[in-house]
Amino acid sequence: MTTATTRTISIPVNKPFVDDRVLDYIKTVLDSGKLSGDGPMGKAVEAQLCELFSITHVLLTTSCTHALEMAMMMLDLQPDDEVITPSFTFVSTANAILHGGGKPVFCEINDRTLTIDVKDFERRITSKTRAVVVVHYAGVSAEMDEVMAIARARNMVVVEDAAQGVNAKYKGKFLGTIGDCGAYSFHDTKNYVCGEGGAFLTDEETLARKGEIIREKGTNRANFLRGQVDKYTWVDLGSSYILSDLLAAVLKCQLDDLDVIQERRRRIYEMYMMGLRDLEQHEKLRLPIIPEYCESNYHIFYILLRSEVERNTVMKKLKEFGIQTTFHYVPLHSSPFALQALGTKDVSLPVTDRISQNLLRLPIYPQIETAEVEYVIEKLHECLK
Ligand SMILES: Cc1ncc(COP(=O)(O)O)c(C=O)c1O
Repeated sequence: MTTATTRTISIPVNKPFVDDRVLDYIKTVLDSGKLSGDGPMGKAVEAQLCELFSITHVLLTTSCTHALEMAMMMLDLQPDDEVITPSFTFVSTANAILHGGGKPVFCEINDRTLTIDVKDFERRITSKTRAVVVVHYAGVSAEMDEVMAIARARNMVVVEDAAQGVNAKYKGKFLGTIGDCGAYSFHDTKNYVCGEGGAFLTDEETLARKGEIIREKGTNRANFLRGQVDKYTWVDLGSSYILSDLLAAVLKCQLDDLDVIQERRRRIYEMYMMGLRDLEQHEKLRLPIIPEYCESNYHIFYILLRSEVERNTVMKKLKEFGIQTTFHYVPLHSSPFALQALGTKDVSLPVTDRISQNLLRLPIYPQIETAEVEYVIEKLHECLK
C-alpha cells in the first residue's frame, strides 16, 4: 500500500471534465446567431452521435428525463397499462411512465450487475403490460438478449434507460441502440456532459418522426424546416424538449474527447479493483462485476459493504478524511410517493433493498489524481481493518 498523504484533500465523488476548447465551440454558436435548438450545432452533434453509436436517428433533448418522457408519450398508454421497470433506478424512469399515462410496475434486480432480474421481470408481465424500461446501471448492460426475447414474444416495447450507458456496449452493440428506443443523459454527473442534456435514440423512422413532433411542442416544425410543408402547425400532444445549440456546443467538445475520458475512467476503475481486491478476498466488501459480454464505460465505481450500518459508518469516516462518497438509490417502491400514489406497501424486492442499503459509490472522474485514488484505497483499508 502506498504512503498516506498528510495534506488535507477534498475529493468529490464526481467532477465534470471539460476542456478549454469548449469556448471555441460556444463562440461558433454565438457567432452564428442561432442559440436555440435544432440549429447547425445541434444537427452536427446528432449526426456525430449517429455515427459514433451506429444508430439511425438521434434527437438531442433537454435531459434524459425528457427523452424517457418522449418514449413513454409515443406509446399512447391507457390508464390501466403497465410498464415494468426496476425499483433500483433514478426517479425519472418511473416519472416518465406516469407522465405517459401508464402505471409503473417495479421489479427486482439481479445482484451481479444490479440490472433487471430477467426472471422476475417475466413473472410480473400481465395482459396489461405494454413495455419494459431496462436500466443499464453504472455503465454495465442489462441482459438484453433475454429481455428482448421475452418482450418480442409478448409484443412489448423495450425502452433502454441508458442515462449511465453512453459509449458502453453489450455484445458489441452500444447501449441505448438495442431496444426499440434508448435515452442518454449528458447531465454534469455523467461521463459526457453539457450541464443538463440528453438524447433520444432509435432506428425506427416512425418513432423518430413522432419524437420530432413531441420535442417541438407537438408541432410539425421539423417537417417545415426540411421544406416538406409550407407552414407548421399543432399536430399532436407535445412539449419543449429541444437542447439549445449552446449546450450542444459543450457536448461537441466532449465527444472529441470520447475515448480519452473513457480511458481515464477505466484506469481509475482498474486501480480500485486491484487496490481493493484483498478486502474482497477477506469478505469485507464485494467489488463490481462486469460480465465478459459487456464493455463498461466505467461510469460508477461502487463497493457493496456487509450492512447498512457499516456502509453509513464507512461513508462518515471517509468524509472525515476529506473523501466524498455516496449511496444509490432509495428504491422507488419504498419511496413516499410510490407508497402513496401507487400503493407499493406490499411490494417485496429483497435484493433491491439489500443492494441499496449496502452500496457505496467511490470518487471516479477523469482528472482525479493517482495519489488521490491511492489515498481513497488506503483510507478504505483503515475503515475496514
Ligand atoms: C438511470 C437514470 N435515468 C435517468 C436519469 C435522469 O437523467 P437526466 O438528469 O439527464 O434527466 C438518471 C440521472 O442520474 C439516471 O441515473
